[in-house]
Amino acid sequence: MRNQFLIIASTLLIATITLWFFNFLPLGVAIPILIICLLGFRDAFQKKHTILRNFPLLGHFRYLFESVSPEIQQYFIERNTDGRPFSRNYRSLVYQRAKNVNDTSPFGTQLELNSSNYEGLRHSIYAKSVQHELPRIRVGGTECKKPYEASILNISAMSFGSLSANAIMALNAAASKGGFYQNTGEGGLSPYHLKNSGDIVWQIGTAYFGCRTKEGGFDPEEFKKKAQHDQVKMIEIKLSQGAKPGHGGVLPASKNSPEIANIRGIEPHTEVHSPPGHSHFSDAKGLLEFIKELRELSGGKPIGFKLCLG
Ligand SMILES: Cc1cc2nc3c(=O)[nH]c(=O)nc-3n(C[C@H](O)[C@H](O)[C@H](O)COP(=O)(O)O)c2cc1C
Repeated sequence: MRNQFLIIASTLLIATITLWFFNFLPLGVAIPILIICLLGFRDAFQKKHTILRNFPLLGHFRYLFESVSPEIQQYFIERNTDGRPFSRNYRSLVYQRAKNVNDTSPFGTQLELNSSNYEGLRHSIYAKSVQHELPRIRVGGTECKKPYEASILNISAMSFGSLSANAIMALNAAASKGGFYQNTGEGGLSPYHLKNSGDIVWQIGTAYFGCRTKEGGFDPEEFKKKAQHDQVKMIEIKLSQGAKPGHGGVLPASKNSPEIANIRGIEPHTEVHSPPGHSHFSDAKGLLEFIKELRELSGGKPIGFKLCLG
């Protein structure tokens, strides 16, 4: 294709210049032809994109279609029940509820209820009366001065920084309204978590964001100040999570804004690592001692830990 293009474009280029020179072709027609030929030559001789080098000019269509592919997929191909992680049906329901319009749409019939991997809940044939009090679980044993009555469903750990300020505030408002807790994630306790008075579980990861010494270790005084906040109901030590099982994590310099740095206790605009393991302890006994230390510093709140198994 490249060789054919070079032959055709060279011939066209020479013919266009000759015809224009002898006044057989107006300048308004000659110039667009010249631009197209030169663009093709640039494609054919550049070394960065193989597709453009092998298919000069035509290769641009590939990039054009690629750029509109998500829209084509979403508007023309995706069915109501497709889409990951949430189908169009579920997304529409969320939009309807967010706008306070009718949210009772019977979309169940669009699902393939008899397929072997269909997962669902069937209601009991013996109707029960509605329980007005939501079931709760007491977290905290005899050594906890401030046990917490936790809801069964809560908001999993997602840090400020990975989520925007508005998302953090919206989730916390939901936690307050629904009587469940929001886990801060390892990115520390931000002012946005405290704006809407929803219950908080403060997660402490291996980088000790928000309770960290200059060297990146655990700072008991910083921890004590924040952990005693009334809205913080429990503390979670993060050992690992499913997406990063024992790998730690990286906060890229470009995402480390002054605001995020201030909340996390780090230098802004620098790359900061969450190491694979904790520096404050190194074995199971150390973990238990850390739990005891945090419980005392927090004024007797429940301390748990998160790890992934696989
Ligand atoms: C944007 C985002 C940020 C997350 N940040 C953390 C985090 O800071 N700490 C953590 O333990 N897990 C974090 N997770 C993992 C979630 O808490 C949760 O364990 C994971 O998403 C699996 O639950 P899911 O299947 O309901 O998504 C994060 C997940 C997402 C999507």
